[in-house]
Amino acid sequence: MRLTIHDRLDDLYRIGDGEGANRPALSVAEEEAHRLVRGWMEQAGLETSVDAVGNLYGRLVGFDPSAPEIWCGSHLDSVPQGGKFDGALGVLAALHAVSDLGPQARTITVVAFRDEEGWRFRGSFLGSRGVIGDITEADLAKADRDGTTVSEALSLLGYTYQPTLDWLTTQPRCYLEAHIEQGPVLAAAGASLGVVTGIVGIAKATVVFDGSAGHAGTTPMRIRQDAAACAAAFQVAAESIARRIGDAVVTFGMNTLVEPGAANVIPRRATVTLDARAPDQQRLDDLIGQLEDAAWKAATERDCSATFGIEMIIDPVLCSADLQVALAEASPGAPLLPSGAGHDAQILGAAGVPVGMLFVRSLNGGISHSPAEATDPNDVDLCVIALAGALRALASA
Ligand code: HGY
Ligand code: MN
Ligand code: MN
Repeated sequence: MRLTIHDRLDDLYRIGDGEGANRPALSVAEEEAHRLVRGWMEQAGLETSVDAVGNLYGRLVGFDPSAPEIWCGSHLDSVPQGGKFDGALGVLAALHAVSDLGPQARTITVVAFRDEEGWRFRGSFLGSRGVIGDITEADLAKADRDGTTVSEALSLLGYTYQPTLDWLTTQPRCYLEAHIEQGPVLAAAGASLGVVTGIVGIAKATVVFDGSAGHAGTTPMRIRQDAAACAAAFQVAAESIARRIGDAVVTFGMNTLVEPGAANVIPRRATVTLDARAPDQQRLDDLIGQLEDAAWKAATERDCSATFGIEMIIDPVLCSADLQVALAEASPGAPLLPSGAGHDAQILGAAGVPVGMLFVRSLNGGISHSPAEATDPNDVDLCVIALAGALRALASA
């Protein structure tokens, strides 16, 4: 008897150690999740394969194998102490929807992308960027806290990715992703499901403030060049900039790195990492510009210098109208809403693939990236039914 989607969400959630989901990118835990899901795909009669960056595919081959495929999936890696549903729900909902459907005109491919979260190597979307040939040597050289690089982690798992200019596979007709909302909107609307209109643009940056070390006791405040004070002033300024630019957000989720790092030494260097987001390109560009100015101002006011290093910019994308219609028709009454979270869909969308997303209501105030992440099992079942309906419509056209 086939395991329910709820059983399988529990099985995935148990992988890894510690509270919550703990499946870092390219780790044994992520690998175990991929192995488990691959087995479930094969039990469902799907043709499975894995590409050079470790993405997993399960194909329900259609009657017309030459027609561009319909892709549907998400990711199986997690943030530290993540939630049960982030990523896993999208992969399993796709698998269960496809299993319920049976063969259609077009091939429908369930996809599990690698390293969507990007926290281990500070990259994000490694798998989906690998699919479109967008991984550089610099990406492969990024190292985690233990010094293991992406390239080493890939080869340790037997993946042979080399930077390419092309797609790793044939470009699909479209890509659908179901995902827990990770916000409060659907719960406030009393809706189980929502159709996503667009996905936020994201800028990841590292800002380094340089001043001069000095004695904490004998250096008067008026002559200090305190790099940590620059960082603190910058973070406060960044918060008010984001509040002023509608729907923009800025997060400093990692500790400020202070050097030399002694309580009685004025810091000569302070490094902050920031995650800045806005719903469209104009507001994202405006946000980045104002943040750069604020870093420079915080530094020069303290006779220090600032280096604003942008590591990655992920473009905001709009979900395609026809996919929004297909998802809306499959989930009557589902409200439309934007996504403040980033998703693999935006990588494929920016590469020209029509993308659509279906959100499932979050409970507990919309909390996510936390073991408190929750949804109603009935909403998960409704998501599978709606996804199957949209896939049937798209795969027969
Ligand atoms: O950061 C994000 O928005 C996504 O959860 N990776
Ligand atoms: Mn996710
Ligand atoms: Mn996430």
